[in-house]
Amino acid sequence: MDFIDSVIMTRASVRSFTGAGIPRETLLRIAKAGMAAPSATDVRPWALMIVSDRPKLDALNACLPYAKMLDKAAAAFVVCGDPHKDENVAPRFWTVDCAAMTENILLATHSLGLGAVWTAVYPDEARMESVRGILGIPPRIMPFNVIPVGHIAGEAPAPKDKYDPAALRFNSW
Ligand SMILES: Cc1cc2nc3c(=O)[nH]c(=O)nc-3n(C[C@H](O)[C@H](O)[C@H](O)COP(=O)(O)O)c2cc1C
Repeated sequence: MDFIDSVIMTRASVRSFTGAGIPRETLLRIAKAGMAAPSATDVRPWALMIVSDRPKLDALNACLPYAKMLDKAAAAFVVCGDPHKDENVAPRFWTVDCAAMTENILLATHSLGLGAVWTAVYPDEARMESVRGILGIPPRIMPFNVIPVGHIAGEAPAPKDKYDPAALRFNSW
């Protein structure tokens, strides 16, 4: 099977983890895959935090209403944007660039047989402020999302068939 069939088409959000740990080298491999993402004019207006400290994962869990799977996650990637990385491009494109990094992280994690899910932080100001406080993130940096990762508990969730011919156009609308 090629990358499309084996990785892209089989990925699904994982919200149930065993609690087992993930080696630091594996987390670093995933982080590198995240940073391999494209970004507008290659500015890379991001910073990536890896959180494996249990009290911090629990504190994130407490302030993020839809990230309860953090309780058994091995770690979490916190994708952050830096809108001030440059004057012109980063302020306009940091969210798009962070989304590209996020998708790379989700696919890399899945390709290693591990589970992950994008949980929302940006644009909720209260969540962003809570995440900043827990992780010591400076005010100019924008916490974009939290991606709990871990070993999948039970059966891996089946991917949804999202192909929608009605959402596809050839050459004109
Ligand atoms: C911007 C964004 C925010 C999301 N926030 C959450 C969240 O807070 N908690 C959660 O469990 N899933 C969250 N998700 C995951 C979506 O629910 C999930 O991707 C969607 O239901 C499609 O399912 P799939 O990822 O299994 O294909 C988010 C996804 C995106 C793109």
